[in-house]
Amino acid sequence: MDRPPPPNPLKAARSGPLKGAAQVPGDKSISHRALILGSLAVGETRISGLLEAEDVLNTAKAMAGLGADLLRDGEGAWRVWGRGVGGLAEPQDVLDFGNSGTGSRLVMGAVATTAMRATFTGDASLRRRPMRRVLEPLTLFGATYEAREGGLMPLTLTGAARPLAIEHEVAVASAQVKSALLLAALNAPGTSRIVQPIATRDHTERMLKAFGAKIAVDGDAVEIVGEADLKPCAIEVPRDPSSAAFPLVAALIVPGSEIKIPGVLLNPRRIGLIDTLNEMGADIAVDNARDSGGEAVGDLVVRASELKGVEVPAERAPSMIDEYPVLAVAAAFASGRTTMHGLDELRVKESDRLAAIVAGLRANGVEVEETDDGMVVEGRGGGAVAGGGIVETHMDHRIAMAFLVMGLAAREPVTVDDASMIATSFPEFEEVMRGLGAMLE
Ligand code: S3P
Repeated sequence: MDRPPPPNPLKAARSGPLKGAAQVPGDKSISHRALILGSLAVGETRISGLLEAEDVLNTAKAMAGLGADLLRDGEGAWRVWGRGVGGLAEPQDVLDFGNSGTGSRLVMGAVATTAMRATFTGDASLRRRPMRRVLEPLTLFGATYEAREGGLMPLTLTGAARPLAIEHEVAVASAQVKSALLLAALNAPGTSRIVQPIATRDHTERMLKAFGAKIAVDGDAVEIVGEADLKPCAIEVPRDPSSAAFPLVAALIVPGSEIKIPGVLLNPRRIGLIDTLNEMGADIAVDNARDSGGEAVGDLVVRASELKGVEVPAERAPSMIDEYPVLAVAAAFASGRTTMHGLDELRVKESDRLAAIVAGLRANGVEVEETDDGMVVEGRGGGAVAGGGIVETHMDHRIAMAFLVMGLAAREPVTVDDASMIATSFPEFEEVMRGLGAMLE
């Protein structure tokens, strides 16, 4: 039985201008993929800038459980000796992914076409999240599974002994599902073709190319040749735009702020929040735009801005899917109404994020309406957000961080009931924010 976690509340209070540089950690999506692909290559992969947060460390443990050798060699520096595609070994114990949908679903892909049985579990949040979206298409390769009612973890996946290449149209706009299928296809003889309904983050495709896989992207379709021979490579993980989002919005809404966020990943499929904030009138400059290991990177310079409400189209959702909690906070400080569409997937994140955002806004005096496919936030203009609420985070790191950002500019402090999940993606959050001048206690 689950016991309630020990309460670990955190309060954010109205702060003076934020100043300085926010060093945000490595990108979570790229970090998971680097560990997994390194484990599927033969030889030594070197990774720098790895995000050393709970989610990613659980993926590292899982890959070790599947027979790869991983060594931490300094801050963010990891060396991985892989087993080769098809070379992973049956784990002797249950694989526990903690809070991480990405880690668990991607590893299911790697297991699905290797002859072994593996049991997957996670924390109370992950055990509520839908896994059929990935398990069902994995059966097309010849894998079988047993899961709890509703396709929930704990579940046991039996990898196909003689996997088949597949052609499949993914039903949901999910990079996790697409990536799991690409990883499974690596060990299926022949060419697999995966089509996605709408473009989602493409780090798996980019990194597979870097590891020497034969992969071709044509619009929404990805073709990959199985029985691949992955060659190890050096990976420099850029900083996570989804973590940068918190100091970024904080600097926009706290009057007089000016901060820099260096080395942020600016992959076009990850920057929907920046596009939206720019439309809202944000002052965000990109300095020193460059390429780092096949990914676009730049330094963000952010100045406090008067924001105005906008309409955010559904097509943009995949490029900012993790950023809606903090966008809703920015919208509360904007003048006028912000309407967000295409948010169905928010229901199945670390929490029901749509419900958690709406409840958190209301607890702090912000008017918000839940619609069929999203929400409408009535912005009050800078300084007019009451605050004073206690926000239930529902084991969701991004709900916790978003509402702490709100507290920095609201009239009364904002408290989140449990800050412990922040460690799953941004363990240095409190330190980084305090370093800018944020009042957190
Ligand atoms: C991720 C994909 C997204 C995102 C998650 C990371 C990834 O999930 O929400 O935080 O690394 O592939 P979905 O694929 O379920 O949309």
